[in-house]
Parts: sequence; C-alpha cells; structure tokens
Amino acid sequence: MLINAKQSLPEIWTILSHELNRGALDSKHPFRYVTLATVENNSPDQRTVVLRKVDESLNFYFFTDSRTAKVKQIHANPNAEFLVYHPAKRTQIRVKGRLQIHQQNELSREMWKRVQGDAQKAYNSSLSPGTEITNPELAYDWPTELDDSFFAVLQFVPERIEALQLNGLTHVRVSFTKMGKDWEGHWLVP
Ligand SMILES: Cc1cc2nc3c(=O)[nH]c(=O)nc-3n(C[C@H](O)[C@H](O)[C@H](O)COP(=O)(O)O)c2cc1C
Repeated sequence: MLINAKQSLPEIWTILSHELNRGALDSKHPFRYVTLATVENNSPDQRTVVLRKVDESLNFYFFTDSRTAKVKQIHANPNAEFLVYHPAKRTQIRVKGRLQIHQQNELSREMWKRVQGDAQKAYNSSLSPGTEITNPELAYDWPTELDDSFFAVLQFVPERIEALQLNGLTHVRVSFTKMGKDWEGHWLVP
C-alpha cells in the first residue's frame, strides 16, 4: 500500500507528491504514462502521454506536437485533468488543473535539448498528426532537417489532487486543494 488511514494528511501529501515525481524520473514507474483529458467543445477527450518532468511547485510537463487536436482544444479551453493508476499499490490519482502551452520559447527550447536523434521525428512529421491518409506509408515522411517548430511543452498547473487507494474494507480517499502556495487536505468517504 502507498498510504494508510493512520497517517496524517501532511504525511500523505508528502508520499503522493513523491510518488508523482517518481513517474517523471523512473521510466518503469506506472505514473510514467498519464491519461490526459482535455475538453473538445463540451466533450471530454483523452489520450496517453508521457510524464516528462515534475518541478518543485508540482507542475507537470508533457511533450507534444503543436498541430495535434489537444493543443487546439487547450487554446480554446485550458481546463484539464489527468489520471494515473498504480496497480501494485491499488492507488488511483486524479489531478485537476489547467494547461499552458510553451512553443518556441525559453522553456520549450530548453526541453528540446532532451529530444535527441530520431526522437525528434515525433514532432516533425510532414503531414499533421491526425490527418487522414490513404496509405499508412504516407505517415513515414519527415523533412531532412528536423527542428523544433512544432515541438510544444504542455505545463499542467494542478489545482486539485485526489487519491483513492483500495484495500478491502479500509479504502482510503483524500483530496488536496491548492490554496495560494499551500495544499489543503481532506479525508473523503471512499
Ligand atoms: C504509450 C503512449 C505514449 C504516448 N505519449 C505521448 C506523448 O508524450 N505526447 C503526445 O503528444 N502524444 C503521445 N501519445 C499519443 C497520444 O496518445 C495521442 O494519440 C496523440 O497525441 C494525438 O492526440 P490528440 O489528437 O488528442 O491531440 C502516446 C501514445 C501512447 C500509446
């Protein structure tokens, strides 16, 4: 188990934020892959993305191509949520917040240095991601010079974090809401 009901809320907060950090640091950690939900008009739209970084203020960073649907959606509505699940610890964490897009700025240029070699192709397809094609081979085309024109970093600024851990009759559910720079914790009925 990750947490237990005998711990204090500040202790649980430390454990949860540490575990979220591990998702960015350990490529084998289950929180490495995040289900990120955005809003398309009034409908939810979800996809898997890789958690690349967590900073000291608990902002979460993802990489994407600026031509993807999610980027258009975020421009129209920055509200978002992501979900992770740790099967061994039977713990689900839901993070609600807002997304900011960084493209061709200091942060995206810094992060682009971490994208090396063929990995750059993921942000350089000749056709935009999501374009309908008549033959799958048409997707495997890149310019000879790869650059960061379409590379975007999504910064997820969290506002509410909720965790649920299943354990027989002693499930634990907690929420933490950002109040200025602090996080206010509450116990919830699972
Ligand atoms: C294991 C896995 C990891 C992925 N990681 C990313 C990622 O880090 N960034 C990204 O933009 N898309 C990633 N994708 C692709 C997205 O799930 C999605 O298909 C793509 O970004 C287009 O989404 P959109 O049209 O909703 O914007 C990943 C897909 C899988 C299956």
